Amino acid sequence: MEVKVKRLEATEALRAVSLVKLFYAKEVSPQHMERFLSNPANYLIVAEADGNSHPAWAGFLLAYALERLKEDAHKMFIYDIEVAEEYRRQGVGAALISHVRRIVKQEEMVGAFVFTNYSNEGAVGFYKSSGAKIVNGDDLLFAYSREGEN
Ligand SMILES: CC(C)(COP(=O)(O)OP(=O)(O)OC[C@H]1O[C@@H](n2cnc3c(N)ncnc32)[C@H](O)[C@@H]1OP(=O)(O)O)[C@@H](O)C(=O)NCCC(=O)NCCS
Repeated sequence: MEVKVKRLEATEALRAVSLVKLFYAKEVSPQHMERFLSNPANYLIVAEADGNSHPAWAGFLLAYALERLKEDAHKMFIYDIEVAEEYRRQGVGAALISHVRRIVKQEEMVGAFVFTNYSNEGAVGFYKSSGAKIVNGDDLLFAYSREGEN
């Protein structure tokens, strides 16, 4: 299987629409996707497999370059990564992570980080195998709703 990994560009907004539909089952507008992809801090990295007639989405990685306060540099926040079930365990996820690590190096970022849960054993095994280290095993994620109360 031939898989191509690349960052989607603003001119590919329609392709991003189809990716969001496939992986999140959400309809987004091409205008929104064009704006999203035009933001240099947003990285939508995709893996396309050679299909019979047209390329198929094998997976994607969404990351944001966070600007640091205490130094003139960015840190990559890997917000999501998903490989379509039929393409798993074939190195697609590893190729997406390698691509991000190349960007981190090329753009002289200080590194990259990702959150997951111990209950997601597949993701834990995957991140460990990719060479990432658990820096703080005590992290806890709190979230605020817009309404504030609950
Ligand atoms: C986690 C995920 C992205 C991995 O993608 P993938 O393309 O299957 O991963 P790769 O084929 O590149 O795997 C590379 C290595 O990671 C490890 N790994 C991958 N999946 C694993 C699993 N389910 N359990 C344990 N280790 C795993 C293995 O060491 C694997 O090498 P091997 O296949 O030679 O044993 C994929 O399983 C997925 O989309 N999961 C659902 C979404 C998700 O949980 N995302 C993470 C959110 S935090």
